[in-house]
Amino acid sequence: MDIIQAKKVRDEERRRIARSLHDGPIQSMTNIIWAAGICEQLMEIDLSKAKKELGKLKQLARNALRELCDAVSELRDAGMKEGGLTAALAEYSNSLQAAGVRRIRYCVKGQESKIPSGTEGCLRAIAQECCTNIRKHAKASNVIITLRYTPRTLFLYIRDDGIGFDNPQDGIGSGELHKFGLLGIAEQVGLINGKMKIKSSLGKGTRILVAAPLRQASSELREQEGK
Ligand SMILES: Nc1ncnc2c1ncn2[C@@H]1O[C@H](COP(=O)(O)OP(=O)(O)OP(=O)(O)O)[C@@H](O)[C@H]1O
Ligand SMILES: [Mg+2]
Repeated sequence: MDIIQAKKVRDEERRRIARSLHDGPIQSMTNIIWAAGICEQLMEIDLSKAKKELGKLKQLARNALRELCDAVSELRDAGMKEGGLTAALAEYSNSLQAAGVRRIRYCVKGQESKIPSGTEGCLRAIAQECCTNIRKHAKASNVIITLRYTPRTLFLYIRDDGIGFDNPQDGIGSGELHKFGLLGIAEQVGLINGKMKIKSSLGKGTRILVAAPLRQASSELREQEGK
C-alpha cells in the first residue's frame, strides 16, 4: 500500500469512527439531556412519575456508557492490534514508576485465550482507572497486577500497599461529586456481566478483584447442543 492509499484508508477509518460516535454516544447524550429536562419538570408536579423517568434516564446513561466503551475499544483495537490487553496492562503498570511506586509486579497466569472485544475494552478501562487511582491517591511502594485466565473466567487483580481508604463499598454508591472512577468501574463490570470486590482499609492498602466471564456464549451454546 502506498502513502496515498494508506492516508485514504486512515481517513475512511476516521470518518467511520466519527459516524459511529455521532450515531451512538452523542445521540444518547442528547437523549439524556432531554430526559433530565423532563425529570426536572416532573419533580415539581409528580414525584413518582419523576422517579420513573429517572429510571429511564439511568438506562439511557448505561447505554451511552456501553457505546463509549465499544467506541474506545474500537479505537484501541485500531491502534494496538498487537499485544492486546496484556500489552496495555504492561503499559499501565509501567506508568506507576513515575508516581514513586518502587516495586511493580505484573504477571499473566493460565492459558491465554481470546477475550470478547467489549470485555477487553472494559478491562483496559478498569485497569487504567485503578492505576490512575494508585498514582493519585495510594502513595504505594508495591503494586501487584495479575491477569489470570481460567477456562471460563478472566480475573484481573490489582493490589497496592498504599494508604488505603475507609468503606470502599460506600464510596461506590455515594455519588460524591467529582468521584466517578470507582462508580465507573462498577458500571463497567455490570456491562460485561462480571463481578468485583474491593477491599481497602486505612493504612492497609487496596485490593480490587474483577472477574470477567470469558466463555459464556460458547458454554451456553454447548449446553444447548447437549440438550
Ligand atoms: N488505590 C487507592 N488508594 C487509596 N485511596 C483510593 C484508592 N482508590 C480510590 N481511593 C479513594 O477512593 C476515592 C474514590 O475513588 P474514585 O476513583 O471513585 O474517585 P477519584 O479518583 O477521587 O476521582 P475520579 O476517578 O472521578 O477522577 C478516592 O477519592 C480516594 O479517596
Ligand atoms: Mg479515580
